[in-house]
Amino acid sequence: METRSIIIGTGSAIPKKIIHNKDLEELVDTSDEWIRTRTGIVTRHVVEEGETNSRLAGEAAKNALEMAGLSPVDINLIIVATLTPDMPMPSVACLVQDAIGAKQAGAFDLAATCSGFLYGLAMADGYLRIHPDHHVLVIGSEVLSRRVNWKDRGTCILFGDGAGAAILTGAENGRGIVTSHLHADGSLWDLLAIRGLGTREEVTPAQLEAGLQFIEMNGREVFKHAVRALESVTMEALETAGWKGEDIDLFVPHQANMRIIEHLRQRLGLSEEKVFINIHKYGNTSAASIPIALDEANRSGILKPGAKVLMVAFGGGFTWGSVAMKW
Ligand code: COA
Repeated sequence: METRSIIIGTGSAIPKKIIHNKDLEELVDTSDEWIRTRTGIVTRHVVEEGETNSRLAGEAAKNALEMAGLSPVDINLIIVATLTPDMPMPSVACLVQDAIGAKQAGAFDLAATCSGFLYGLAMADGYLRIHPDHHVLVIGSEVLSRRVNWKDRGTCILFGDGAGAAILTGAENGRGIVTSHLHADGSLWDLLAIRGLGTREEVTPAQLEAGLQFIEMNGREVFKHAVRALESVTMEALETAGWKGEDIDLFVPHQANMRIIEHLRQRLGLSEEKVFINIHKYGNTSAASIPIALDEANRSGILKPGAKVLMVAFGGGFTWGSVAMKW
């Protein structure tokens, strides 16, 4: 039997502070009704003083380790997908490595925006083909609330903070990652970007005044590209895996907009129970969205061993991708 990468533990961490749609009515010209119907979002969680990306990531990692029944020194590689690291250097992965005491692990961050966790799973899968007895910790973790312009109603309603983690190892039991597909189109970068705080230009007070440290998005255009790319990557995954839409036991899409998810559900002909949704609680948590969803699905008991799971994501860059696995 072929050796494949299986997930043996999942975990997540969500900050306690909740921002309701009603709270946003105080900040920008919007309404609870508009946000619910256009996005499906009802609440999002955000960090408070002292809570950081690496702390959330570390907590998610500890929960995953506990489920896997592993000690931190059993981890050989830590990959953190994020676009909102604590700082440019060191990586969040190194901070997590220290915080959890994963003394045997290599560690690096991966920048692929909302598709980052799926990129991370694909990298872990490649690594485990060389070292099938190793354990790889893949985390998606974001503190987007610090990169959101709370005066921009086109973006501030959408995003939230949180972290999710999964631990992978090699196994020969017919389960595990069946296929992954990664895509990008950098020509469309400026439809969804944080223009400031990089090294392209000197960071100046004028830049900060202009809000270049915040997420800027052309929502309508991003929406169109997201629908098209997600549909195509979903079909591509099914074809490579040799699955039909109805074979999927659980579809776990990136939680960016309920209307996009609903479109995909109908396109696949899936019943509502087969699509995991938690966007109403957390909003769009970028790289953390799929691992949080996966952990919630796992802990709720709906993921039985061997269940066919298809994960798809799309984000800034643009990046998009899929991972199909037998749970
Ligand atoms: N409250 C009230 N009205 C709002 C609003 C808000 N928070 N945000 C935008 N509007 C207004 C717009 O100004 C526009 O008004 P106009 O017609 O007078 O110009 C109108 O609502 C429609 O705007 P539009 O941008 O076309 O709305 P939409 O239906 O596309 O929804 C998003 C906006 C952001 C929810 C949606 O485009 C979206 O989800 N985009 C994709 C996000 C995504 O998938 N990201 C993935 C990568 S992370």
